[in-house]
Amino acid sequence: MAETGGPDRAPLLSLRGIGKNYGAVVAVRDVDLDVYPGEVLAICGDNGAGKSSLIKIMSGAQAPSAGTIRLRGAETRFRSPHDALLQGVATIYQDLALAPRLSIAANVFMGAELTRPLGLKFLRVLDRARMADEARAYLRRLSVEIADTRRPVAGLSGGQRQAVAISRALRWDAGIVIMDEPTAALGVKETAQVLDLIRRLKSEGRVVILISHNMADVAALATRVVVMRAGAKVIDRPAEGLTPDDLGHMIITGRDVAQ
Ligand SMILES: Nc1ncnc2c1ncn2[C@@H]1O[C@H](COP(=O)(O)OP(=O)(O)OP(=O)(O)O)[C@@H](O)[C@H]1O
Ligand SMILES: [Mg+2]
Repeated sequence: MAETGGPDRAPLLSLRGIGKNYGAVVAVRDVDLDVYPGEVLAICGDNGAGKSSLIKIMSGAQAPSAGTIRLRGAETRFRSPHDALLQGVATIYQDLALAPRLSIAANVFMGAELTRPLGLKFLRVLDRARMADEARAYLRRLSVEIADTRRPVAGLSGGQRQAVAISRALRWDAGIVIMDEPTAALGVKETAQVLDLIRRLKSEGRVVILISHNMADVAALATRVVVMRAGAKVIDRPAEGLTPDDLGHMIITGRDVAQ
């Protein structure tokens, strides 16, 4: 699959005139955004800039107050996060929405468990062995080795939990993976692990849309940067060559640094 996006290619996801009001609060105003295959798009901006509100619209968690969404060229609506997932858009939130007491495999297959026929009757039971094996294979694709995927998620590190959540996105073959502050609560080693997971998704040709306050992460990973300010998109540019300081400056001033 393609390595980089560009205006010469068809966007995977297109937003036009997207707005979101919460009562009198305008959280997102008139955002146009095109996302191309193979991109790691970082959405940056100060607290309250509208980043989470924007991705909630892309992930089906919130309906926009205005505007349209196109996916692979066709206008669409996401009625819920599950509906978005069925259309190939997976979202991984900071709290991850994993069930900690359930096994790793059960979390990967949640909502679409694998079953097998039971004897000669028209009965099907959960195919735990296959789910355990396939969950391990998804994790391995992300370079995370967990021998026993029947273990509960509760015993995993933050980075391993992110890998389980990403495995769920892989299980649905999501072409677009959205992450809101994926490393905010993680230590140094776990952060490095999550950055590596994001690189793997990119190398598989998937799009990653990432909200981050960590400018070092953004500078290291992003192919494109969007800066939001008071609900509006004020900067949209390639990330190449940007330092963490440049990014901080762009967020504070809302202006692009000289190229
Ligand atoms: N459910 C809600 N009800 C009312 N106002 C909301 C709601 N969610 C967000 N807002 C408001 O919308 C604006 C944008 O919020 P949003 O959470 O999108 O910002 P953000 O860029 O993600 O900020 P942060 O970096 O702090 O996560 C803020 O003024 C916020 O108070
Ligand atoms: Mg937010």
